[in-house]
Amino acid sequence: MSRIVFLNGSFLPIEEAKVPFMDRGFMFGDGIYEGVAILEGHLVDNDAHLERLERSLREVRIANPYTRAEWTALEEELARRNNLSEGFIYFQVTRGVAERDFMFPDNATPTVAMFTQAKSIVNAPAAETGIAVITVPDLRWQRRDIKSINLLAQVLAKQAAKEAGAQEAWMVENGFVTEGGSSSAFIVTRQGRIVVRPLSNAILPGITRQSLLALSQAEGIPLEERLFTVEEAYDAAEAFLTSASNFVLPIVSIDGRTIGSGKPGPVTRKLRETYIRMAASPHRDNA
Ligand code: PDD
Repeated sequence: MSRIVFLNGSFLPIEEAKVPFMDRGFMFGDGIYEGVAILEGHLVDNDAHLERLERSLREVRIANPYTRAEWTALEEELARRNNLSEGFIYFQVTRGVAERDFMFPDNATPTVAMFTQAKSIVNAPAAETGIAVITVPDLRWQRRDIKSINLLAQVLAKQAAKEAGAQEAWMVENGFVTEGGSSSAFIVTRQGRIVVRPLSNAILPGITRQSLLALSQAEGIPLEERLFTVEEAYDAAEAFLTSASNFVLPIVSIDGRTIGSGKPGPVTRKLRETYIRMAASPHRDNA
């Protein structure tokens, strides 16, 4: 079966999906994106992702081409056409095609592109072993709350991680961890308290992060929203990341230092299990 993508109103084989040379996404990175997990055929936290999409578009003043119901129908149709029951649905909106000029074009129509990636999120080996992260300086702009397609700083950060034998980079500003290259960053203190950075322009408001806050409350695990330093992370009992494409993933080393026992910790395991149970439940399907 050929891989089917969505481009500007049409479902078509990926080989036929062409974006014009002067698209502002290509020229300026002038666009935003979203990514939603699909598990057992259900879109996970879809409503919250679409709400963030709406906000990102508003903040950069690109018109939202679809209603929430229309976006959802497109996601479901794309998943259906690709026979996707577990994986990731990516969608991006750019300001459209116009002669290269920095200011907004008068009459451009936003470019909408969507594709799917099959992925075993639940049975990922990394969930059993845990992953390694390194820390790098956070080189990004000051509106990280917008899910911009400008990802060069994250590309460099994650490539540095790969070259160091790690699977994610934690970005650091003024000594404090902001977030991962493509994930939210958490630690668990030796007192068993979850610590996560509060929302601001310094980080993306992770949708999985938000679900995890609700989950930890329901589980009665104490949680603090505050800044934490790299040193505090080295000394933590556990560390983990969250993202739509990985759910909850244990971290067992940071900059080569072993975290806790060097194995996925009990709090992380519990949260991962609980999150997966919730994500797989049709009651969570926001469609
Ligand atoms: N990344 N922080 C950053 C910088 C991210 O890029 C992401 C998501 C997150 C986690 O957000 P959420 O839980 O809503 O996925 C945090 C996606 C998965 C990506 O770029 O592929």
